[in-house]
Amino acid sequence: MNAEGKDSGSDDEANALLRRAYSVETPDDSRGLYADWADTYDEDFIAATGYVYHQNVARLFVEAGGASGAAGSAVVADVGCGTGLVGVALVDLGEALVDGLDISPEMLAVAATKQGASGQPAYRSLIEVDLTTRVDIADDTYGGIISTGAFTHGHLGPEALDELIRIAAPNALAAIGINEDFYVERGFEQWLSDAVDAGRIIAMPTIEKVEIYGEFSGSHAARSSVALFRVR
Ligand SMILES: C[S@@+](CC[C@H](N)C(=O)[O-])C[C@H]1O[C@@H](n2cnc3c(N)ncnc32)[C@H](O)[C@@H]1O
Repeated sequence: MNAEGKDSGSDDEANALLRRAYSVETPDDSRGLYADWADTYDEDFIAATGYVYHQNVARLFVEAGGASGAAGSAVVADVGCGTGLVGVALVDLGEALVDGLDISPEMLAVAATKQGASGQPAYRSLIEVDLTTRVDIADDTYGGIISTGAFTHGHLGPEALDELIRIAAPNALAAIGINEDFYVERGFEQWLSDAVDAGRIIAMPTIEKVEIYGEFSGSHAARSSVALFRVR
C-alpha cells in the first residue's frame, strides 16, 4: 500500500498507462490506450495527480468571453473531451451548451455520466470523431472551441486546427491547451502565424501558461501553453 492507501499493483497499472500515453503514435494507439484507461482515468490519474488543467483552461475561456461573441452559435465543442472534466467545469462556469468530441467510445461513455453542480448533464451531445480526419460536422457549428490534453505527443498536431476552424462559427473563441514541448516541436507558432496571414484566424493568439497539476508529482510536464484566438 502507498500513502493514499492504494495497493502497488494499482499504482503500477496507473504508471504503465501514463507511460503508454507518452508513447502513443497513431489514432489506433489512442483508441487502444483510452479503452483501457477510461474506467480508472478519473481516479488513478486525475485525483492522484491533483489535475487542475481543465479548470484553468475553462476559466481562461470564460474570462475571454466564452461562446457569447460568436455569430449564430452558443455551443462549445470540447475537443478530446475524454471523461468530461472540461464539460463539468464549463457548465459550472455558466456555459450551458457543450458538445464533447473524442475518438474513444469508452471515454465518451464516462463523459455521458457527468453532471454540473446543479445536476444538469455536462454535455448536450457526445460525438465519436477522429480529428486527424475530416469529421461529419457542418461548417460554422460551434461558437467556441476548447481543448485540454489532446494537443500533445502522438495525439493531435497543428493540422487538426484546420478542421476545428472549419466547424467553428465566425468570431468563435478558441482556447486550445497545447503541451509546451510539443508546441515548439510541431511548429504551432508558425502554423498559427500562417493561419493569420491566410485570414483564417483574426490575430496571432495570446499564449497563456497554465498549471496542469495542483500538487505536482511525477515526471510529466507541469505547465501547458494555451492558445487563445478568434476564428475569422
Ligand atoms: C489526455 S486525454 C484528455 C482528456 C480530457 N480533455 C482531460 O483533460 O482530461 C486525451 C483525449 O484525446 C482523445 N484523442 C486522442 N486522439 C484523438 C483524435 N485523433 N481525435 C479525437 N480525440 C482524440 C483521447 O481519446 C483522450 O480522451
